[in-house]
Amino acid sequence: MPDWVRVAHVDECRGDGCLQKVLSDERSIVLARWGGEIFALEDCCSHEDYPLSEGEVEDGDVECILHGARFDLRTGKAVRLPAIRPVRTFAVEIRGEEVFVEVDK
Ligand code: FES
Repeated sequence: MPDWVRVAHVDECRGDGCLQKVLSDERSIVLARWGGEIFALEDCCSHEDYPLSEGEVEDGDVECILHGARFDLRTGKAVRLPAIRPVRTFAVEIRGEEVFVEVDK
């Protein structure tokens, strides 16, 4: 059953390009800020399971620094090889100064 979980304060992810690793239960999530919005994705590249939180945000994508795959922040779709599978995305809600992510329990 989906549940909203507080994962960060908005100050932890300020400014376009910010990547912030957060944990929800035992799940690792990366928050990414772009165009004034915060996105949440599984913190694991679908190519070889490398943390996307160590990468970079560019033009609305997150780039994995290991081999250069890119994923659309909004959809998780792989938009550049070598990744071909998407990464999971999570709904984000800002409540006051707190960042909440919708996760499955
Ligand atoms: S592990 Fe991310 S591109 Fe290879």
